[in-house]
Amino acid sequence: MTTVTASRTTLNFSAGPAVLPECVLEQAARDMLDLDGTGIGVLEHSHRGPAIDRVFDEAVADCRAVGDIPDDFEILFLQGGASMQFAMVPMNFLPAGRTGDYVDTGSWTAKAIADGSKAGAVHTAWSGKDGGYRTLPSPGEIQWSDGAAYGWYCTNNTIYGTAWAEPPQCEAPLVADMSSDIFSRPIDWASHDLVFAGAQKNIGPAGVTLVIIRRSMLERANTDLPAMLRYDIHAKKGSRYNTPPVFGVYCAGLVFKWIRSLGGLEAIADMNRRKAAILYSAIDESNGFYSGHADPACRSLMNIPFTTPSAELDAAFIAEAAAEGMSTLKGHRSVGGIRASIYNAFPEDGCRRLADFMAAFAASNG
Ligand SMILES: Cc1ncc(COP(=O)(O)O)c(C=O)c1O
Repeated sequence: MTTVTASRTTLNFSAGPAVLPECVLEQAARDMLDLDGTGIGVLEHSHRGPAIDRVFDEAVADCRAVGDIPDDFEILFLQGGASMQFAMVPMNFLPAGRTGDYVDTGSWTAKAIADGSKAGAVHTAWSGKDGGYRTLPSPGEIQWSDGAAYGWYCTNNTIYGTAWAEPPQCEAPLVADMSSDIFSRPIDWASHDLVFAGAQKNIGPAGVTLVIIRRSMLERANTDLPAMLRYDIHAKKGSRYNTPPVFGVYCAGLVFKWIRSLGGLEAIADMNRRKAAILYSAIDESNGFYSGHADPACRSLMNIPFTTPSAELDAAFIAEAAAEGMSTLKGHRSVGGIRASIYNAFPEDGCRRLADFMAAFAASNG
């Protein structure tokens, strides 16, 4: 059975940058001084030399293997964070006279809509804002517009703790922000045309953004843009049009190998279901002491926001947990309360430690 353990006693519940596999950090520490016996560290190599050729080639190959990404998708490593995709997608794929359609399920989709509206016409096909972003639409509720240039959704809403079980059905090319759950479970490539993710949750350090784009989509990209905003140029240049975020790509490559060594995405998904179930049980079995933010029908396996009966108890919970080595449990400022982020590299035993703490805290404060 696939599981993740950790030798460090501090548990890092950060929503991102977040916990990374220890073996990856150890390898990176070694390669910092000498990559592949070259006598030069990974941060010091030219991005056009053979050592970094090897790093990029393997990162792309391991990414394709781990994600089971079909050959008609291009894999790109870009900069500007996931937020840069909020601008690049509409600038490349939203022509005059069409709309970019968005399913608004949280702050990150709202930001994408705001940026999209600077590039062209946007249409909100559904919004969960009035309901506090606690839930996701059922299929019949999404009002896509006719002839939309693309449909946009966010697979996992980091702040509100909701996640789509299946991608929405959409006739237009489908764009997915997978920043906070990429490679936590298998991906349905037939339904998607462009997937992107900032690295700093499940892939590696901040500073690199993974973009996986269908080649037929790439061919339709706007060429009347500055070079750094053009997907086609990044693709043609193998993500090395300019000096790329070499270290981020290098770490991502190690993380892809690590996921493969654990048995791939099915095995990772099984583990993530078990890990999240430990914490959701702690909430559901607390006799109402803890309340989860998300509607139980669309709970995330990665981010679990919840509250105690009062803001004072939330603060006490966070402080007492920190004193026991459970770090970064404060909820996002827009939701408050507590949030446990338990990405792929978060140890399973850490979920049990938090659940035990939750039970003890509820017993003494309930
Ligand atoms: C779902 C989602 N999309 C986008 C972003 C923005 O990412 P970045 O800071 O890399 O721009 C985040 C950051 O947490 C996120 O969780």
